[in-house]
Amino acid sequence: MYPDMPLDSVKLKDDFDGVHFGLYANHKLTGVVSLFSQGDVYQFRKLAVLPEAQKLGYGTKLMEYILDYCKIQNATELWCNARVNAKEFYFKFGFSETEDTFYKDGFDFVVMELAF
Ligand SMILES: CC(C)(COP(=O)(O)OP(=O)(O)OC[C@H]1O[C@@H](n2cnc3c(N)ncnc32)[C@H](O)[C@@H]1OP(=O)(O)O)[C@@H](O)C(=O)NCCC(=O)NCCS
Repeated sequence: MYPDMPLDSVKLKDDFDGVHFGLYANHKLTGVVSLFSQGDVYQFRKLAVLPEAQKLGYGTKLMEYILDYCKIQNATELWCNARVNAKEFYFKFGFSETEDTFYKDGFDFVVMELAF
């Protein structure tokens, strides 16, 4: 996520309310994503794959896993604050961009959503 910043920088005050997924490749934690729900509406946060393991399909595996998880939970919607430079990645999974945009920690973000 932010490889040059301390671990505390990716901790969220809501972390204990979320479900956290880790993808292990060759017994090494290689990708992570966290899911938070408010009723039937789910948000994923902190999707990240180790820099040296990006573009190998692990991000796709994590996305497919949480999409299945949301369907099993009967979620009606999944959304995220997407980095603008990653939005093409989310289009592949059917997400649409909204008009909500903001700038934080050196990145431009856009809210993206997917209805089930
Ligand atoms: C974004 C991220 C999670 C994607 O994971 P990944 O394992 O690299 O992605 P995959 O290998 O599954 O890529 C699947 C497809 O999306 C494309 N893709 C991956 N990252 C992309 C990006 N940032 N922008 C546009 N396309 C991207 C790949 O080229 C691939 O395309 P293809 O199917 O045409 O070959 C990962 O690159 C990452 O951790 N980036 C740094 C942190 C970050 O930006 N997190 C997201 C915050 S919103």
